[in-house]
Amino acid sequence: MDLHLEHITLVYPDGDSTLTAVDDVDLTVPAGTTTALLGPSGAGKSSLLAVAAGLTQPSRGTVTIGADVVFTPDTSVADSTRVRLERIGMVFQSPQLLGSLTALEQLELHAHLRGKRPASVRERGMELLDAVGVADHAHKRPAQLSGGQRQRVAIARALVGRPEVLLVDEPTSALDHERGTQVVELITGLAREMAAATLLVSHDASTLATVDATVRMLDARLEESAPLAAVRPA
Ligand SMILES: Nc1ncnc2c1ncn2[C@@H]1O[C@H](COP(=O)(O)OP(=O)(O)O)[C@@H](O)[C@H]1O
Ligand SMILES: [Mg+2]
Repeated sequence: MDLHLEHITLVYPDGDSTLTAVDDVDLTVPAGTTTALLGPSGAGKSSLLAVAAGLTQPSRGTVTIGADVVFTPDTSVADSTRVRLERIGMVFQSPQLLGSLTALEQLELHAHLRGKRPASVRERGMELLDAVGVADHAHKRPAQLSGGQRQRVAIARALVGRPEVLLVDEPTSALDHERGTQVVELITGLAREMAAATLLVSHDASTLATVDATVRMLDARLEESAPLAAVRPA
């Protein structure tokens, strides 16, 4: 399913006044493709992702998955949470794994949150850990994994519910250039395989050779799409 962000505006209260973090953003991400969202710190990238994920209600505008309007300024927290669990996968800047669970158990917990028996996703969980290259580490806890391996587990966890939309916030900021490029390549490949509409925030254009499109955010607004050649390293 395609992801459509239409006229998204997000205004935070800021003392006696307000701060517009996202200003009338329109963006479509087709199913099976990855769009990179670039821009400097403070541009509003994470805020836009939070709205796309239903973690924050937009002040104005709508988020649509396929033909379903899923998030509006009036969507309840309960409805947003249900849509997020059923239709959206998220990967954050730091992997946010639980220290006491093994890699496979991180994925099984997601099934539990969706009201399924953890064991019901064991096979798929192992397939995904294999797809991201950490199957050999399925029974290790986060402290026994490298930063790159933890981020791969977080990517597998985001995909365990077969999400239609994948939202990824600066997954490579803790990785060196080569590992960062590999993680972006992994995400774009999985997005294509699983037909997930993927929006990937980055501030490092040099890792984005495999994405399908790039857009740039500056001062809460989306600029016209940059041609890929402009952001790809020479
Ligand atoms: N929860 C919040 N409350 C108030 N202001 C916020 C909040 N989160 C972010 N902001 C502000 O919104 C603007 C955009 O922030 P953010 O979306 O985090 O940008 P980016 O991810 O591009 O660095 C910044 O000015 C930031 O200080
Ligand atoms: Mg951010």
